Amino acid sequence: FALHAPYIEAINRLKRERNAVILAHNYMTPDIYHGVADFVGDSLQLAIEATRVEEDVIVQCGVHFMAETSKILNPDKTVLIPDMGAGCSLAESITAEGIEEMRAKYPGAPVVSYVNTTAEVKAASDICCTSSNALSIVESMESDTVIMTPDQFLAQNVAAQSTKNVVYWPGSCIVHELYTADDMKSYREGDPELKIIAHPECPPDVVAEADFTGSTSGIIGWVRENKPKKAMLVTECSMASNISDSLPEVEFAKPCNMCPYMKKITLEKILWSLHTMSPEVHVDPQIAERARQSVQKMIDLSS
Ligand code: 13P
Ligand code: SF4
Repeated sequence: FALHAPYIEAINRLKRERNAVILAHNYMTPDIYHGVADFVGDSLQLAIEATRVEEDVIVQCGVHFMAETSKILNPDKTVLIPDMGAGCSLAESITAEGIEEMRAKYPGAPVVSYVNTTAEVKAASDICCTSSNALSIVESMESDTVIMTPDQFLAQNVAAQSTKNVVYWPGSCIVHELYTADDMKSYREGDPELKIIAHPECPPDVVAEADFTGSTSGIIGWVRENKPKKAMLVTECSMASNISDSLPEVEFAKPCNMCPYMKKITLEKILWSLHTMSPEVHVDPQIAERARQSVQKMIDLSS
């Protein structure tokens, strides 16, 4: 961290001057995760934490949909994202028209949208879900058929455990769709002690090979609790980097895939963002109000 120390110091000083809080996703690099974040977590934890913020300013270190969720839950606060280009292949895969298409195809079926969506899509949906509560949210729907958008793999993984007829939009995450079941099998054959820990955005045949599947915080919790000799985190690369120092007894096996969107957030950009108080995230108030209902319903069902 020595190289980053001046940035970390400057960010932490400016953060106090601006009365700002830094909410960071588990995929942030270690300098951000350990150096400047006030709170780290998965998407659900970040959304819940956003409802508790007392500071005037939220700096969202993550991707755009996460910053939008913070703004939706805090319309009167300033929400900054250090790089507006921090998108998400899932959020980009569907629009509000796509939701209407699904409703026309499956009349009466409720729409459960992953939080990895724009505010417009959340507003057009009945409720949101994250990777940590998707199954329980789908199960809580009254209808036998449930529409899940936009992640086909999360939907298929939920469908495998659900009593519902889950129909879905064909979106996918560019990080998790790259993993294959054949690769998992050959890693395991090469090293029978290896524990494979996967995120539910991976294809179902990859999840079937895993010893544990969970949200990013679920994965961290499982590794901390079980301390396997060797683990492969079938998710974004920063996950292992962020926890490896505190778990010297665990060897983290490669490969991992990098999320190019998450990696747009850097210490330099966080400092600039706090300095200029930009770029600021805005959500149309009418859309925000409807989107808030979808997010709040999810939070209420998850607590
Ligand atoms: P989590 O909610 O599990 O943190 O996932 C967010 C995400 O974007 C994973 O790719
Ligand atoms: Fe989106 Fe995938 Fe990146 Fe997560 S890892 S932000 S789902 S592109």
